[in-house]
Amino acid sequence: MPGLIRSDTIPFPWLNHMSTPIIRRLPDPESVSQAAAEEFIRLAAECISARGKFTVALAGGSTPKRMYQLLGSAGYKERVNWARVEFFWGDERCVPSTHADSNFRMANEAFLQSLPICSPQIHRMQAEREDRDQAAEDYQAEIARVFGVYSNGQPPAFDLILVGMGGDGHTLSLFPHTAALSESTRWVVANRVEKLQTFRLTFTVPMLNRASNVLFCVAGADKAIPLVEVLEGPADGNRLPSQRSLAGQGVLTWLVDEAAARELKAK
Ligand code: 6PG
Repeated sequence: MPGLIRSDTIPFPWLNHMSTPIIRRLPDPESVSQAAAEEFIRLAAECISARGKFTVALAGGSTPKRMYQLLGSAGYKERVNWARVEFFWGDERCVPSTHADSNFRMANEAFLQSLPICSPQIHRMQAEREDRDQAAEDYQAEIARVFGVYSNGQPPAFDLILVGMGGDGHTLSLFPHTAALSESTRWVVANRVEKLQTFRLTFTVPMLNRASNVLFCVAGADKAIPLVEVLEGPADGNRLPSQRSLAGQGVLTWLVDEAAARELKAK
């Protein structure tokens, strides 16, 4: 039985809808990656058979790398109709796409370059551009184009948004106490992250919370305290941006390894 957050025990003042997260505890990071790859394959098959397309926003950071490698390897790769997948990113560092810190580069090297896909299916955030606000606006327009919706309306629902959580409780590039957390209309923004002395391009909370499926992959002992705070602590969505996902409209799943889950009361 997954761990449940009871809406009567935790007051989340910004919520008018409470997702019940599915929390799956797995033994180690490898099991998290395997479970995430299986979930990707399951959702891709379901969405492609229902609508002929699978829209996914990839996560950055280091945790998803192994999942991407698995998806690109024998035994997994042939189970997805890759021609029907549209790849986006939920956030990007403001560096060129060839930079070691680029989320695009990580995913590209881990699996995209080995898949039978063509470049129009890859929608990279151009976070290296000098005018970051324009880059964010253009990315919103690109999402709208692919989904066939107006770019000045409500965000469309991604089939899957993959995310991670930082040791400070951030997700995407929604860092604690940053301006992007208050964004209520735009889908993508350039966010100043003072503690990193940098900007990031990131999906906003409205974009994240429209997704049909949000999948967190969290591993490692350094995530144990933020994880229990996010899932079982009092509401503080400005200090713990990952908590904002609990207001989502879709299925919210957390794949966590034992090291990260060790403080959780829900077993
Ligand atoms: C990024 C992210 C970020 C990441 C978390 C977890 O670009 O850094 O998208 O939100 O997912 O910081 O990162 P790790 O997987 O490296 O722990």
